[in-house]
Amino acid sequence: MTNKSVLITGANKSIGYETARQLGLLGYRIWLGSRDAERGAIAAQKLSAEGIDVRVIAIDVADDESVKNAAATVSAANGKLDVLINNAGIPGSYTAPGAQELSEIETVYQTNVFGPIRTTQAFLPLLRASGQANVVMISSGLGSLTWLSDPAHPYHAVNILAYNSSKTALNAITVSLAKDFAKDGIKVNAADPGYTKTDFNHHTGYRTVEQAADTIVWLAGQDASGPTGGFYFERSQAPW
Ligand SMILES: NC(=O)c1ccc[n+]([C@@H]2O[C@H](COP(=O)([O-])OP(=O)(O)OC[C@H]3O[C@@H](n4cnc5c(N)ncnc54)[C@H](OP(=O)(O)O)[C@@H]3O)[C@@H](O)[C@H]2O)c1
Repeated sequence: MTNKSVLITGANKSIGYETARQLGLLGYRIWLGSRDAERGAIAAQKLSAEGIDVRVIAIDVADDESVKNAAATVSAANGKLDVLINNAGIPGSYTAPGAQELSEIETVYQTNVFGPIRTTQAFLPLLRASGQANVVMISSGLGSLTWLSDPAHPYHAVNILAYNSSKTALNAITVSLAKDFAKDGIKVNAADPGYTKTDFNHHTGYRTVEQAADTIVWLAGQDASGPTGGFYFERSQAPW
């Protein structure tokens, strides 16, 4: 058991929900982030039925006010946050890169790129108050420039401008924040859940949410001796 608290964005379903479930069973207090109150409440009821200490928190990572309000709520209740998992993400459409509308790219970036920056900055005072905190960015293998540019790799053929570049940017953000926060005892790492069967890809993925959450939970539980500024798939370093 632990007396640690964790906030997971987009935790009302899929990979975020399973991550909340696994950490909850390890004894973490769960702040279950959901942009929709009702979907969050239904998910929290299920976790509560498993004996998990869970509270729903309204958070739309694309909305400044919503993120600030969420940080104020956690601050008032706990005064600190030990783990932040920036999981909320959207795919955008699978459009030829030369034709993808800028407005759609902006929408994807609002959630996948600015969302994790906005949320991490808003929760920074609470993460600092933890003394030893972990931030986990839910990235993607589709953000790996090494894999995308290798003709022998299956991701080479998956050329989605907005989504892929949003996750490459998230990897760069991970490195930048990790360096800045090292002095505060805050580690920042990125996880690739792998191609996972969820609503995100109309359940075409080959991995389970349990497999996807494993590396995320592992990174969330790192102590002061753990890594920072890395990108991991199946608990091993993935190529940038
Ligand atoms: N599934 C995969 O194969 C795969 C592979 C690599 C990386 N990933 C990454 O893993 C993460 C989770 O993916 P998933 O497969 O679990 O996706 P999912 O089934 O579509 O679930 C996404 C979650 O994010 C929430 N969300 C979306 N936009 C949000 C916003 N602006 N503010 C707050 N919450 C928001 C959704 O809320 P609603 O229910 O309200 O829509 C939902 O709870 C994403 O970052 C994704 O890019 C997934």
